[in-house]
Amino acid sequence: MTILVTGATGNIGRHVVDRLVGAGQRVRAMTRDPRAARLADGVEAVYGDFERPETWADALDGVERVHLFPFAYVAAGAGDGAGFVEQAVRAGVHRFVVHSAAAAGFAPGDEPGDRTLSPLRRHLAEERQAHRGLELMVEATGAEWTHVRPGLLAVNALRWAERIRAGQAVREPYGAAGYPLVHEADVAEVAVAALVGDSHVGAAYTITGPAKVSQAEQVRAIGAAIGEEIRFEELTPEEAREQWIHDGCPEETADWLIGLLAAAVEGPELLPPSTAFHRITGRSPRSFTRWALDHAADFRPPARTEEAA
Ligand SMILES: NC(=O)c1ccc[n+]([C@@H]2O[C@H](COP(=O)([O-])OP(=O)(O)OC[C@H]3O[C@@H](n4cnc5c(N)ncnc54)[C@H](OP(=O)(O)O)[C@@H]3O)[C@@H](O)[C@H]2O)c1
Repeated sequence: MTILVTGATGNIGRHVVDRLVGAGQRVRAMTRDPRAARLADGVEAVYGDFERPETWADALDGVERVHLFPFAYVAAGAGDGAGFVEQAVRAGVHRFVVHSAAAAGFAPGDEPGDRTLSPLRRHLAEERQAHRGLELMVEATGAEWTHVRPGLLAVNALRWAERIRAGQAVREPYGAAGYPLVHEADVAEVAVAALVGDSHVGAAYTITGPAKVSQAEQVRAIGAAIGEEIRFEELTPEEAREQWIHDGCPEETADWLIGLLAAAVEGPELLPPSTAFHRITGRSPRSFTRWALDHAADFRPPARTEEAA
C-alpha cells in the first residue's frame, strides 16, 4: 500500500513522513521541489503542485491513502474543475486523513464576509469555511476520512526566532494571553494513527497542547531551552498594531491577531485544551517546554549553534 503525504515538507508533514517510514509504510511525498525536500531514505519524493492539475496523476498513481494538506481546498477549483480530491478518488484513493484546523469544529453562523462582525470573528468564520469546506469535500466523495484539527501550533513561536537569535527582546501585546499550543509531532502522531489503523475512520479530532501557555511563559521556556535570558517587552495593543502594519502586516490581519490575543488573557475559552490526544495515544500531549527544547537550534544565536555542534 502506498500512502501519499501532501504538504510533506511542512512542519506537520515532515513528522507524518518520518513516522510512516518508522512504521514500515511505503511513503510517497508530494512537493514542488523534490530535490530540495530532504526526506528520509526510502521516501519517494514526487513533483506535485496543487495549483497544477497536470502534475496530480503521477503523484496519485497507485496510491490508496492520502494525508491531505489544506492547500488542496484553495486549489480545488483549479484546472478543469475536477479537483485534487475527486481525481484522487478516481485514481483509487479510498482514505483521506485531512490536515484541518480547530476552526472547522466551530459552530456555523457567522458569514466570512460580514463587515458588521469583529475582525476576529470574521477571520474565524473564514478559517471555518475553508477547513470545514475541505472536510465536506472529502466526505462527499464517499471515501473513508478522518479529520485532524490542530489548535494553534507551537511553531507559530518561530516568528520570534530572528529577534531571539539577534539577542533582542520579544515585543508583543498581552503577555498574559495564550492558548494550549500544540506540538506538530502530536498532530502528526494522530494523523499517522488514522492513516495506518482502522479505528479512526469517520472521526474528527481537535488536537491541542496540554494547557494554556502565555506569551511571557513561551518566551521564558525558549530562554530556558537555549540557556539565555530573553527579555519580554509588553506593548500596548495600539503600539503593536502600528509596529506590525509598519512591518508589512495587512491591517485586517493585525486587527484579528490583536483580537485573538485579547480573547485569551483570562483563559483560552475560544480554544480550550482538548482531551483527544490523550484518548487516542494514552499519553499527555507534549508541553511547550518540550517544543522549545526540540526547537532550541532555531533560537540559538549562530555562534552558540556552532559551539553546540
Ligand atoms: N498556524 C497555526 O496555528 C495553524 C493551526 C491550525 C491549522 N493550521 C493549518 O496548518 C497549515 C500549516 O501546516 P504546516 O505548518 O505543517 O505547513 P507549512 O510548514 O506551512 O508547510 C506548507 C506545505 O505546503 C506545501 N505547499 C505549499 N503550496 C503548495 C502547492 N501549491 N502545491 C503543493 N504543496 C504546496 C509545501 O510543500 P512544498 O513547498 O515542498 O511544495 C509545504 O509542505 C496552515 O495552512 C493551516 O491551514 C495552522
